[in-house]
Amino acid sequence: MDREVLIAREIIQERVRELGVRISSDYRGEEPVIVGILNGAVFFFADLVRYITIPVRIDFIRARSYGAQMCSSGKVEITKDVEIDVKGSPVILVEDIVDTGLTLKAVVHHVKDMGAASCAICALIDKKERRELEISIDYLGFSVETGFIVGYGLDYNERYRYLNDICLLKPEQCGGRGGGILNDHRL
Ligand code: XMP
Ligand code: MG
Repeated sequence: MDREVLIAREIIQERVRELGVRISSDYRGEEPVIVGILNGAVFFFADLVRYITIPVRIDFIRARSYGAQMCSSGKVEITKDVEIDVKGSPVILVEDIVDTGLTLKAVVHHVKDMGAASCAICALIDKKERRELEISIDYLGFSVETGFIVGYGLDYNERYRYLNDICLLKPEQCGGRGGGILNDHRL
């Protein structure tokens, strides 16, 4: 097998449900715009939104970072923009994984420029090993120390996204960057 299960589907679902409950309570009386960052966040986004019990609007944004294949290169381009007018509305960005932090920093900056009243971050995985920028994650699923993660939307060269579990790719499958350690992922 080229991978091992790091976080099983039942644990993912329970954690995503908890995040949905927290968001519903924190935003009671408001109608936040939940913005999924394509493509990695799609399954997380779809599950999360269905666990939220208050009215929301949904949209997507897509960002591409140049250069590297498995991480951000530093230069981030928005290749599909949010289409809802978020001016004056609270926004919650939904991201699959925060690695260096460069992608999220650029997207948060962009959403604030659009006039959002606030911009919270909801991330499935916080991978701290290579963080370059300080990012404050408001709603976090799991924390992973190191390694290359696939499944539940996360890919390696566009493969593995369809897996229901979050898996760790064996080092030989991804240029020696496997071998991850799961932190105290139940925060
Ligand atoms: P930043 O800008 O925080 O970007 O470095 C995060 C983006 O980098 C990719 N990435 C990963 N994708 N498994 C993946 O499937 C990983 O372990 C991983 N680490 C970084 C991903 O595109 C994410 O949006
Ligand atoms: Mg991504």
